[in-house]
Amino acid sequence: MDKIVNYLNSVRREYAGQELTIDSVAEDPFQQLYSWIESAVNAEVLDPAAMILSTVGSDNKPSARTVLIRGQEENGIIFYTNYDSKKGQDLVSNPYVAITFFWAELDRQIRLTGEAEKISYEASQKYFSNRPKESQLSAIASNQSGIVKNRKSLEDAYAAIEEKYKDSGKVPCPDNWGGFLVVIDSFEFWQGRHNRLHDRIRYIKVNNEWKLNRLAP
Ligand SMILES: Cc1cc2nc3c(=O)[nH]c(=O)nc-3n(C[C@H](O)[C@H](O)[C@H](O)COP(=O)(O)O)c2cc1C
Repeated sequence: MDKIVNYLNSVRREYAGQELTIDSVAEDPFQQLYSWIESAVNAEVLDPAAMILSTVGSDNKPSARTVLIRGQEENGIIFYTNYDSKKGQDLVSNPYVAITFFWAELDRQIRLTGEAEKISYEASQKYFSNRPKESQLSAIASNQSGIVKNRKSLEDAYAAIEEKYKDSGKVPCPDNWGGFLVVIDSFEFWQGRHNRLHDRIRYIKVNNEWKLNRLAP
């Protein structure tokens, strides 16, 4: 362990991003979010759509995992998952989430908070129908977050579903699979700067208007 810590200390680096100010960010935080995602795509960040989604279970314990941002609405962003999964169950008892993006290539982090709600079955179905067939089959075959006896049982479940739909061009969207819209109520844009004096600009909604503040790093 000492060896790992020594190595990690030796790779400590300086952050050197451009200045981020209240005047330079967009008035609309969604516009700022999409402009940073666009920069991440242009900078060829690997998986720029990946975000860490944190939920809290009915036992009050937090849990975090990566999901992909796959849609947007005027007031939030959408990801897709299995509704019976651990995260799906957490969101039934507590819809409040935190979301984090981190792009080392740009010295940037984005933090969001919000409330998740299921999107309509029709909207999920529409998205599902455009996924590659292999992804559709694995969504049906995988009882996400359940215990799997071994790799073979997972592959057997996939093979059985593959066989069932082998002559079918259309694979139905399972009832327990679909999107969550996260309605966002706060945004924080973090830009790494020199001497650890990083820039943090936060938006929170007050009386239906976005209020901006600079936070200490
Ligand atoms: C890059 C990446 C993208 C992922 N995208 C998704 C996703 O969009 N939806 C999803 O349900 N799981 C996704 N996963 C898997 C989740 O991180 C997680 O393992 C799974 O959803 C089960 O989480 P849970 O047991 O906490 O519900 C992704 C994992 C990685 C590493």
